Amino acid sequence: MAANTAFLYILLVSFTVVQVAVASDPDILTDYVLPPNTTATDANYFTFTGVRSIVNSTYPTKFTVIKASLNEFPGLLGQSVSYAILEFPVGSLNPLHIHPRATELLFVITGSLQVGFVDTTNTLFSQTLETGDMFVFPKGLVHWQYNSNSTEPALAVSAFGSASAGTQSIANSVFNSTIYEGILVESFKTSADVVEKIESGLKS
Ligand SMILES: *[C@@H]1O[C@H](CO)[C@@H](O)[C@H](O)[C@H]1NC(C)=O
Ligand SMILES: *[C@@H]1O[C@H](CO)[C@@H](O)[C@H](O)[C@H]1NC(C)=O
Ligand SMILES: *[C@@H]1O[C@H](CO)[C@@H](O)[C@H](O)[C@H]1NC(C)=O
Ligand SMILES: *[C@@H]1O[C@H](CO)[C@@H](O)[C@H](O)[C@H]1NC(C)=O
Repeated sequence: MAANTAFLYILLVSFTVVQVAVASDPDILTDYVLPPNTTATDANYFTFTGVRSIVNSTYPTKFTVIKASLNEFPGLLGQSVSYAILEFPVGSLNPLHIHPRATELLFVITGSLQVGFVDTTNTLFSQTLETGDMFVFPKGLVHWQYNSNSTEPALAVSAFGSASAGTQSIANSVFNSTIYEGILVESFKTSADVVEKIESGLKS
């Protein structure tokens, strides 16, 4: 990958920004939190190597996320920060979703991205980001990222103000869960066949 140095630099910068600006997990009363069965640890506990696979790799054929959150990186416990590395081949979409526990600060490292979110008054904020641009998705709001460029893949890093931001897919939580059909029909002011058509698209 061409932008290795820039990539590492950007990781460092955005980590600092998030720690200062949008930390929102509960404060801890110790420097760091160790796993329950541990009394001492070393630097490895504070190290995550799970993103090395991206160095010199080719782009995947569909939208791919590599997470570095509490689940993958236990050393984040109590530190209120995490990352996701987002790879967008041409024409790929990170579909509508929410992060219930954190603001997302996205940084475009290569390529360009069309992004947007909707606030609680249903106002749309959409933007086309060039390489080097950042965009902030406020906590808990519906948003997407889309690589509309037909020739260039895109790589972005997102920092989160939570060790465990959580992701809730709009399509799946509404139409690919076990919410009763009648509830969906009434909520969307539509008919059962329309609901079933949407559902079947997600199940296949
Ligand atoms: C602590 O417990 C976890 C889960 O049971 C285990 O995976 C880990 O190896 C344990 N660590 C130590 C240092 O015993
Ligand atoms: C990535 O590629 C560069 C240039 O070919 C090489 O110098 C470097 O060692 C590679 N890094 C890894 C982790 O493979
Ligand atoms: C796609 O990206 C390339 C390289 O950044 C740029 O030259 C081109 O204008 C972009 N095409 C579109 C349709 O945005
Ligand atoms: C819908 O839910 C099923 C079962 O949880 C899952 O396997 C499938 O990937 C989901 N569909 C989409 C489009 O994510």
